[in-house]
Order: sequence, then C-alpha cells, then structure tokens
Amino acid sequence: KEIFLKDYKLPDYYFDTVDLKFSLGEEKTIVYSKITVLPRVEGACSPLTLNGQDLKLVSIKVNNKELKKEDYHVDSRHLILTSPPSGTFTLEIVTDIYPQKNTSLEGLYKSSGNFCTQCEAEGFRKITFFQDRPDIMAKYTCRIEGDKTLYPVLLSNGNLIEQGDIEGGKHYALWEDPFKKPCYLFALVAGQLESRDDTFLTRSGRTVSLRIWTPAQDIPKTVHAMYSLKAAMKWDEDVFGLEYDLDLFNIVAVPDFNMGAMENKSLNIFNSKLVLASPETASDADYAAILGVIGHEYFHNWTGNRVTCRDWFQLSLKEGLTVFRDQEFSSDMGSRTVKRIADVSRLRNYQFPQDAGPMAHPVRPHSYIKMDNFYTGKFFNGKVYEKGAEVVRMYKTLLGSRGFRKGMDLYFKRHDGQAVTCEDFFAAMRDANDADFSNFLLWYSQAGTPLVKVTSSYDAKAQTYSLKFSQEVPPTPGQSVKEPMFIPVALGLLDSKGKDIPLTSFYHEGMLQSVPSNGQPVYTTVLQVKKQKEEEFVFSDISERPIPSLLRSYSAPIRLDSDLTDSDLFFLLAHDSDEFNRWEAGQILARKLMLSLVADFQKNKPLVLNPKFVHGLKSILSDSSLEKEFIAKAMTLPGEGEIMDMMVVADPDAVHAVRSFIKKQLASELKEELLRTVKSNRSSEQYVFNHPNMARRALKNIALAYLTSLEDPEFTELALHEYKSATNMTEQFAALAAIAQNPGKVRDDVLADFYSKWEHDFLVVNKWFALQAMSDISGNVENVRNLLKHPAFDLRNPNKVYSLIGGFCGSPVNFHSKDGSGYKFLGELVVQLDKINPQVASRMVSAFSRWRRYDETRQSLAKAQLDLIMSANGLSENVFEIASKSLAA
Ligand code: ARG
Ligand code: ZN
Repeated sequence: KEIFLKDYKLPDYYFDTVDLKFSLGEEKTIVYSKITVLPRVEGACSPLTLNGQDLKLVSIKVNNKELKKEDYHVDSRHLILTSPPSGTFTLEIVTDIYPQKNTSLEGLYKSSGNFCTQCEAEGFRKITFFQDRPDIMAKYTCRIEGDKTLYPVLLSNGNLIEQGDIEGGKHYALWEDPFKKPCYLFALVAGQLESRDDTFLTRSGRTVSLRIWTPAQDIPKTVHAMYSLKAAMKWDEDVFGLEYDLDLFNIVAVPDFNMGAMENKSLNIFNSKLVLASPETASDADYAAILGVIGHEYFHNWTGNRVTCRDWFQLSLKEGLTVFRDQEFSSDMGSRTVKRIADVSRLRNYQFPQDAGPMAHPVRPHSYIKMDNFYTGKFFNGKVYEKGAEVVRMYKTLLGSRGFRKGMDLYFKRHDGQAVTCEDFFAAMRDANDADFSNFLLWYSQAGTPLVKVTSSYDAKAQTYSLKFSQEVPPTPGQSVKEPMFIPVALGLLDSKGKDIPLTSFYHEGMLQSVPSNGQPVYTTVLQVKKQKEEEFVFSDISERPIPSLLRSYSAPIRLDSDLTDSDLFFLLAHDSDEFNRWEAGQILARKLMLSLVADFQKNKPLVLNPKFVHGLKSILSDSSLEKEFIAKAMTLPGEGEIMDMMVVADPDAVHAVRSFIKKQLASELKEELLRTVKSNRSSEQYVFNHPNMARRALKNIALAYLTSLEDPEFTELALHEYKSATNMTEQFAALAAIAQNPGKVRDDVLADFYSKWEHDFLVVNKWFALQAMSDISGNVENVRNLLKHPAFDLRNPNKVYSLIGGFCGSPVNFHSKDGSGYKFLGELVVQLDKINPQVASRMVSAFSRWRRYDETRQSLAKAQLDLIMSANGLSENVFEIASKSLAA
C-alpha cells in the first residue's frame, strides 16, 4: 500500500503514558502494555486503530474490563477498537511474540543469544499493538523480566529505578524514561554483556555515566568508541551549546543489525562493526566511521529525539541535520578538506546516480510503500540522508556560522518536545536571521540533480568580469516539469599569479551588491543563483582576466558545467586557495580524460594518456608542501560509477578498461616517485589514530596499490614485504588488497594466510569476504558463489551479506558481465534473502534499479531477473517497491 504525504492527518488519540512489561522466554516473550489514551478532541469518539504485525493477541482490556469480541477487530496488520469510551481511558493489551524466529531484525529479536530491538521506522508494531507513528509521544516505563543466568544484563531507556530477583531463577529491572518520546526510540537489550565504564562531566556540572556494552571478550576493543563518545559530547556543547540530559548513556554493540546504528533514547544500539576497533583489526576508515557514527547517534539526542519528526516523510528533518552535524564533527576532529572530499565523492558515486534513476525522490518524498527503503547510512547511501545534509549545509553557507547557530537555537526554543516538519526547521532558520529564502523549500520537494551552466567573459577595456549562470533540473519519475532552485555558489577569483583577488562588490542583474565583510579582505563570496536563464554577475575593477574558482567547498549539491579550459583547470589544481576546489579541478580533468579515452576505447583506437595529466599528478605527488592525505585523494581517479553516470549508455567494460589503463600508465611513468613515497612513509611507531598518521598511511597505501598494478615481481615482493611487516590492519589490508589485484598463486596464498590469521574475528573475516567479492578479476562470480558456501558465511547476518553480495555488486565489470551471470546471481539471492530479511533484500535489489542505463543485451538480462523477482511468491513490500519502480520508470 502506498502512503502519501498529502494524506497526513492528526491522530484522533494521543498516548500520555506507556507502561510496558516484557517477560522474556526461550520460546516466546509475553508483552504487557498499559497505555493512557486521550482523545485529541474531547468527546469525539472515533475508532482507535492500532498497528500490529506478527503478534498474537492474548487479551485486551479497556478501563480494567476485558473487551468484548464485538468491540474490536483484528486483521494481519491492525487492531481496531470500534467504539472506545469518550474521554481519557486506559488500554491494556497482552501479546505473545517470538523473537527467536524473527530474522527480519526489526522489532524484538535475538542476536548471538542476546535480546535486542530495532524499532525505527515501523518496527514497534512487531512488539505490541500501538499507534506506530512518530507524532505519538509518550512517557514510558519498561519492566523486563528474564532468566538471571542467560540474561544478567537488562537495559531499556532512561533511568534504572528498581531491580531485583524473582522466583524461578529470574530477575527484573524497571526503567523509566522521563522524556516523552515516539515509540521508534524505544529500546530493550537483555543478555550476557559487560561494559566499559567512564564518565563525562557536562558544562553545567552533571556527571554522566557512560557505558559501552559488548560480549566480555570485546571490551578491549571499545577504547576508541568511548573516546569518540566523549569527544562528541564535548563538541556538541562547544559548537551548539547542547548538553546531555540524563545521568546515564548506554551503547550496546550487536553483531546482527540491518543498519549502522540507532539513536534510541539513552540506549543507542550499534552494529558491532561501528563500535569495535583495535589497531590490529580495524582500519583507519573503520576508526573514522566509528567516530562519525558514534557522534551521529549521540547528536540525535537533540536533533531527532528531543525534537522529532511529525511523520516519516520528514525523515530528513532529523537525518539530514544529524548527518550534517556528524560531518562537521568529523571535520573538526580531523581534516575539513579531506572529509569534504570524501563526502562529495560519496554523493557523486551513489546519490547522483540514484537521483537520475527510477528511484529518484525528493529529500522529502511524496509517497512510499515501505519507509525502510528511504533509509541509508554507513553501508548504503541515498537521498534523505546525504542530500538532506547538503541542504542543511546550504543554510549554513548562506547564513554563516553565527546565523546558522541562531537558527538552531530558535529551532530548539520553539520545538523542544515536539514532532515537527521540515518547514518548521526552515522557518526557524529564516526567522532567526530575518533572511529572504524565497524558493529555498524547493530543495525538499524537487528531485533530480540541478545542472548549472556557467559562462565567463572578461572585458579588458571596461575592466569587468562577467559570469552568466543558467540552470536546469532534469525531469524525474512523477515530476516532469521543474522550477528553478535557489543555489548558493561560493566563488573566488584568482589572478595570474594564483592569488585570490579581494572581492568588495558586484553587479547582479544590474544591481550593485556589496560583499559582506568584517573589515578584513574577503576572498570568497556566495552568489545566489535563483533564475533559470542567464543570470549575470559582473565584477568591476578587475585588471586582468581572472580564473574563477566556482562552487568552493562544493557549496550546493549540483552538477556544474563551466567553460573553464584544461589550462584553467591545471592552474586551479596548482593554485586554488580552496583546497577542495584544487582537488575538484583535478577530478574534472580526470573525468574529461576518462570520458574521452572511453570514446577511443569504444572506437577501438589505441589508448594514449595525456602527458600533461601525468605531469600534473607528478607535481602533486612530489610537492612536499602538500598535505599527504590531500595528495592521496588527488591521486585517486574518479570511480567507475561516476564515469558511467556521465555516459548516455553506460559501458562498464570500457570504463573499467580505461580506468585500469590510466592506473597502470601512471604507475609506470611515476614509478620512482611512487616507490619513494612508499619507502618514505613507513613507520615503525605504534598505531595512532590522528590525522598526520592516517594521512601518511593513506598516501603510502595508494602508492603501493599503483605500483602493484604493474604486475611486476619487484613490486609484488614489495607488497608482500609490506603485508608481512605491517603492525596494523590499515597497512596490512592495503598490502593484501594491492596483491589481490592480480590473479595468481601469490594472491591465493596471501588470501589464505590472511584468513588463517583472522578466522576467529568475524569483522576481519568480513573484510576478507568483501575484498574477494569486489574483485574485478574476470569470472569472479564463481568465486563468490563458492564463498557463499564458506563456513564463515551466513545469509542471516546483514554484515556478511553486505560484504559478499553487496561487495560483488561493487565490481561493475563482474556484476554487469555481458553473459548475465552477475545478474542471475543477484536475482537468485534477492529471492532467497527476501524470505529471511526484507530490508537487506531490498538493499541488494537496488543494484538493479538503473538497468536501463546499459546496452540492450544487458537491459534484457537485468529485466528478466527483475521480472523473476516480481513473480516470486510472498514478495515483501520492501523488495516489491524497488523492483516495481525500477521496472516502471
Ligand atoms: N536512525 C538511524 C540512524 O541514525 C537509522 C535507522 C535505521 N532504520 C531502518 N529502517 N533500518 O541512522
Ligand atoms: Zn541518523
């Protein structure tokens, strides 16, 4: 069933208090719920509809009296009280549930012997009958009863107010959450867990107990997570003035989890992958992800929990904002440029293609069949989160840090304790700053990536420099005609020496506008592009033709098409004071180069690499004044997905051949520099997670990967040496990956060696699965099929599925193999997975969604698989939505 934003109605009933009791059992769990229900309008007696799924109703009482059969109605998805009493009443419901059998990992389920919950978006209805919608905010208590030996730890939201033993070897704990919350933030955990304990002193002087819970053997791996949590708590106080509001904050790591993590009030539940780390077992990327996600979930306490969403269409209200906050946190803790580059690459590789395909939808969708399909996160990326964060960033770009903070303060002042909409956030930003935001709200309602074209001209006689903008938002399913958007373009002008020209004023459509300044010279200003056609900005007193640095720090989530020449771009690559744009200039050059080589490849012309490009990268690689991680990013070619996204008909074979060709060509021409880079960036010191060390490792690792691509025994030896001498996972795994690029005995041996070293650590084994699955080695589908049978693999564990099956879809040459073997593999697995876990299956099926982008042969092969999936018996709504929309568009 499709649900529409325009159909939103206020609930007829509110819930004031919710008292839950769980009696945890080995076969079934009994859930008792006692709710105080208030009609929204006094005296109106409409029916009360509760959601429920996979529940066995045991009893139902209203005001202490068992309800008669004719007073309610149950179907597979609802419990409807046909004539509830008028006025406030208590509703008591008892249900049986079967967490042991719950493989969907939604609601209450078991993970490695422990009970845990995941309720967002609509999982609470798998626990008890409830108005499962975020605008129902209530105060909860939760009593948990369970076997004391099997479940020594019993956790829920808020404060522990009572605990003790009861008969039959059982014990109980009673939790009370003083804050009103929607049911999607409810959580329960019970099991054999230990905690790492610490405290945080808030700026107002409250001491908060911090506990990170894992199985006993993993406690040593929670040091970094605890560091991250404390850093996040401090950062939110410093940057947003937001303090934690309870005396206890719990984090629990579980191995079976659909997403990255969940912000349940004071009881965050995490995928183990995003908590557990040690230098030997986790890479720099893992450490960075843990920092970001611990921050993200903690930040939700204010942006999500204290102020929540009125309905699920508003998801971006909390997710866009919280992703923005975690990005800023990570930037402040590490390197801002490098973080921005990573985020923009992600946006380009995952969100842009989605935005141009059948699953395109606005930041605030107009409709959905299954809300889960609009979530993204650590493993899979998309609109609501990533583009939503860009929308929040644009407010900051337009208002400046102080203006943005004012808007945030007003937002909390107005809406603390409420369930609100994206307009409410917009209004707070606007009102706090008296800003004119005209049509900014279109960012929430229009799908598609705007294409902005810029042309420049310099008038030497008048000493003026003009930039003309025009924009176009491409049609997307259900939205054929688009309005022009409000696009902030951060701009700087470089003189011929590469220095920034101070900006004081410009003419916009003939009107003089001065550049805001605090007395200091200004080198970057934000142009507000709002019209569809020919919007002109003119700068005067410009004494020579400048080079424009456009869209600095990527000030809007758009595609930009400018008239910059290659030599302008090389100039920017060498000189731009905006480091992001320096990288960007290199990427634009690389994208152009790759596209033209792809055309050559398709015409069977020999491939020749432009020496200027080699020279450009060579000077970056040997420039010791540059930041090492920046060099590593600049040396990384645009992804295959990004290039295919720019083609009329995506050609995975050509793109792959070209990217490999450039890599090898660069490696052979820059051999000396690369070898020097590897050698000079070794370190025998202990692992430290900080920017300089990560930068060093990143640079060394990319240099090694380039060299190894040459399939020269000398460099294979070198990689083997790095593999053996590595003292941390970052370097060990990078060496393994470098070696694994090339088929052969060395590869097989090292892969086997790595497995035998790490078979006891499931998170490392997942890396091993992913590395093999993503391999571009031809015919890899057979290897992946064999790995499905590997004793360490399990289709019920999402991380393993994401590593092996998701990893496989990450190799375009193999997934899109022209014999259809990749499609067939995925088609079969989606059908199997859907029976186990629809959320995971639907994430996998989205790999098919852009099937029309390929040639006819591939199209018909992919379509055949989608048709097969659609004809499967008992298909979930999750997979149905993605598969049917992919076929329809
Ligand atoms: N709110 C969580 C986060 O911070 C993700 C929720 C996952 N939801 C889901 N339907 N699987 O990102
Ligand atoms: Zn979130």
